[in-house]
Amino acid sequence: MTATPQAFADADSMEALYALLDDARIGTGWNKPTPSLYPAPKREFVPAHWSYGIAKPALDAAGRYVSTELAERRNLILANPIEGNSYATARTLVAAYQMVKGGEAARSHRHTPNALRLAIDTNSEVYTIVQGEKIRMESGDVLLTPNWLWHGHSNESDRDAYWIDFLDAPLVQFLDPMFFEHHQDVVEKTNVYNPKSPMRFAYAETGARVRAAAETAPGVRWLDLKQDALSTIGLKLRHFTRGATAADPRTTANRIYAVIEGSGTLRSDDREFAWARGDVLVLPGWSPVQWWVEQEACLLLVTDAPLLEKLGWLKNEATGR
Ligand SMILES: [Fe+2]
Repeated sequence: MTATPQAFADADSMEALYALLDDARIGTGWNKPTPSLYPAPKREFVPAHWSYGIAKPALDAAGRYVSTELAERRNLILANPIEGNSYATARTLVAAYQMVKGGEAARSHRHTPNALRLAIDTNSEVYTIVQGEKIRMESGDVLLTPNWLWHGHSNESDRDAYWIDFLDAPLVQFLDPMFFEHHQDVVEKTNVYNPKSPMRFAYAETGARVRAAAETAPGVRWLDLKQDALSTIGLKLRHFTRGATAADPRTTANRIYAVIEGSGTLRSDDREFAWARGDVLVLPGWSPVQWWVEQEACLLLVTDAPLLEKLGWLKNEATGR
């Protein structure tokens, strides 16, 4: 059936109308397979947990087969375990474990996704090179590599270095402003060392600051790693004293936690995760969360709350805003 003005005028049944609409490649708002508006977040992504106790030996095994000449990055993607997903950890964010062997470098490149990393097992001779400056990355440090800045990694020690990368790449893939380039030097050549780079949050300093912060609830302290370099991502350290418990209100923000030190249990919906140093936890937007802390703990929170706030969609169940 051909969709002409006359054919629509002559349509004598619902079936005839649907056939004409099909021909015109037009859908109908009244019989969609799924509603386009709904009363609360669908929560298609699920709370999940990854153990460093598994990731570290997995990286070591990858190190036997995958070189940094072969791979842009020797990393392990923490894809949210839902059907059809092979990349995103949460809707807007991806987390990945990465290892650079002693004496090895990961080549320099730049891309529009914003990125950061949390050093897990590194040392004072491991560097991220950002825009021609070497920045030390010691265990617990957070390093920023914002949108379109050149960055690579060099491990000048004789020990393998492990960290966790976080990127807003799933968001960039969805919105489509993706660009990526390799650096002409392969690994950016530099002898400039910047001990005061604004791209580094040294844990020697931030760990002490979060411990000195006032409690926001019994046994809970926060430190906002204030930065404007990453336009879509917020970073906070969260400290728990030994034995602390907490229940977080639901928020529309997606949250990924990485454990810098300590251990405990997190419960969300009917899932319970025992977490320890180096582990990653994801809490997609609108997840309920309860914490039980065994050993004094410090975690890095990576959240898309600043993005949702800019768009007017950051909502917290406790405050209604
Ligand atoms: Fe990168």
